[in-house]
This record gives sequence, structure tokens and C-alpha cells, in this order.
Amino acid sequence: DKAGHKHFMAKEIAEQPGVIAQALGHYISSDGQIILPKPDIDFTAIDRLTMVACGTAYYACLTAKYWFEQIARIPVEVDVASEFRYREPPIPARSAALFVSQSGETADTLAALRYCAGKSDTILSVINVPESSIARESDLVLPIHAGVEVGVASTKAFTCQLTVLLLLALRAAQDRGEVDAKTLARHLSDLRDLPNIVSTALGANAEMHQAAIKLSEARDVLFLGRGLMYPLALEGALKLKEISYIHAEAYAAGELKHGPIALIDKHVPVVVMAPRDALFEKTVSNMQEVMARKGRVILVSDATGIEEFGQEAFATIEMPQISSVLTPILYAIPAQLLAYHTAVAKGTDVDQPRNLAKSVTVE
Ligand code: F6R
Repeated sequence: DKAGHKHFMAKEIAEQPGVIAQALGHYISSDGQIILPKPDIDFTAIDRLTMVACGTAYYACLTAKYWFEQIARIPVEVDVASEFRYREPPIPARSAALFVSQSGETADTLAALRYCAGKSDTILSVINVPESSIARESDLVLPIHAGVEVGVASTKAFTCQLTVLLLLALRAAQDRGEVDAKTLARHLSDLRDLPNIVSTALGANAEMHQAAIKLSEARDVLFLGRGLMYPLALEGALKLKEISYIHAEAYAAGELKHGPIALIDKHVPVVVMAPRDALFEKTVSNMQEVMARKGRVILVSDATGIEEFGQEAFATIEMPQISSVLTPILYAIPAQLLAYHTAVAKGTDVDQPRNLAKSVTVE
């Protein structure tokens, strides 16, 4: 049932405020504590975290690396499951392995989990389907409570994965004494406001629709972002490729001058994900390099960022202000909606894109 939406993907994008709130409700107690399912985990016994997944779930892991390293000061290794499993990576003592999967059945992710079993101190999984193989074989299962996801392109599972991973990073920071009570309470209160802010972002639909008309005429699209916006740029490019069949690539903005800038001309739209945070000025300078070569920038930022640099851009998409820690969850909305509207403009099969399956249970 598409609940009045044209596609399951549109329905699932629209459901995000509700499912994020649901996920938060499962992990934050009424007295403001982060509660994990049993048997729980003690992060003081962990010196290193290995995160493994495929596709969109892999980008959730890449995002979480920034949170675990910056907030909890735990070194994190992230890999795609198909590489990890055959590399025979050494698993250090006092380490945990964390697997992220919507379906819980992805063959490569499951094989990577089995490789770590008996080598890592703890096997954790962040999954959507609780009765899945990956869940069954984990020591600690963290469900994301996103509800059934039908659209092949993952949307609400991604933002719920991010929500649960951020809560886990905060819990790790708390265990390890890396965050004081006041800062933690502020993070949790920001998280509680998140569903409303995501609702507001969904309201910028008209702007995204217009930008998508431009994207639908392109052959190639570049996505740029720094810091937490880099994995999100990767996710934006993947979404666009999957459902609109337009070639899209993402780069860490600082990598632009090391090669991809050679691609820029007036035919290449460049989506720049840049909230007005500590890295904003650096990203803006990359954006100006693009514009100097006639690249058409679609700037996704907040009111302050757009006021400062929006007039130089070809199009702008305004997001609400939010604490920088939460920007990946919020900016997932324009990443998804840009791809969605582009695909609709092109007339592709949004919910069942060609050559793709919802659950990849073979290698
Ligand atoms: C992208 C997408 C895929 C999946 C990937 C992993 O929109 O849906 O990239 O994220 O196949 O699937 P799960 O999360 O089920 O392991």
C-alpha cells in the first residue's frame, strides 16, 4: 500500500520523521539514558571498531566512523563486505565488529560476519529485519525499527541506521568518559528535535523538484562534500545512479583538484552538500573552483550558507539549521529527493530499477 504516494520510495521518504522518532523511542529512556538491548556492551573493553556493510549501509558506516572517532575517540576501520571477506584482515584484540544491513541477508556481509566470529570480542549488528541471518549470528542486535522497506533504493533504512549508529557512538563516548553529562544531554535533546526538523526539510520539495529537472537533462553529475557530508555525497550519487540511470560520482571536496576537476564544464551539474559548519569555507572554495570552470552548482545548505554564497550558485536548496553532528541525517532528505524527482522526470521505474534486487543474497 503506497498510502496515496505515487511510489513506495516517496512513501518511505515521507515516513522518515515517524520512523526516526520510533527508533529514538526504543533507545532513549524517559529519564534521558541511552539504553541498548541485552546483553549490552561495555565500550571501555573495546579499543577498535571494524564496520562492514554493502551499498547504502556501507555509507552509513562511513558516516558513523566520523562520529565514533570524533565523539567517542575510538579508531574505526570501515570496509565493503566483498573486499573485507577475502582480504583476511587481522582482527586485533579488544576489538568489536559491527555489521550494518537493512535485510540482514546480504551474502557478503554475512560472510564477513562469519569471518569475524571467534576473532572479534563482540559481533554487533544494526539491522532492520530482526529475524534475519545476520541478526541471528550476532552477539548484540540493534534493530533500526524502520518498518518494512519496499523500494529497492534504501531511504528510511539509511536514516534509521544513522540514528542508531549515532546513539551507539554517544553511548561509547559515555562509557569511555569522552563526553560530559551536559554535552550528552544536549546531543539527546537535539536528537529528539530531529523528527520535526526532518519534516521541515521534506517541505523544501518544490526546490528539489526544480533542481531535479536540471539534473534529469545531465549525462554526468558530481557530488561534493567534506567531513560528515562526504559519505552523504557518496550516498546521493548512488541514489541518483540507481534510480535515474544518470552517471554520478562523489568526491571529498578536497580531492577535486587531484583529478575530477578536469571533468567540469557547463554540462556537468555539481551538487555541493555544505551546511554552514566548521568546514563550510573550505567547501565553498572548492565550489568556486567549479564555478570558475562554468560548472553548474546546486548548493544544498542552510539559510546562512545560502545567504553568503547562494547567489553564485545555479540553484539552491535550503535546509533548516541543525547541530553539525546531525547534518548527515537531515541532508539525506535532499539526497533522496533529488534522485527521486530526477527519476520521475526521466520516467524510470523508481521502485524497481533495472538490474537491481532488494536483497542481494548471492555474491
Ligand atoms: C541502495 C541499496 C543497496 C543496499 C545494499 C545492502 O539504495 O539499497 O546498496 O544498501 O545492497 O543491503 P542490505 O542493507 O540489505 O545489506
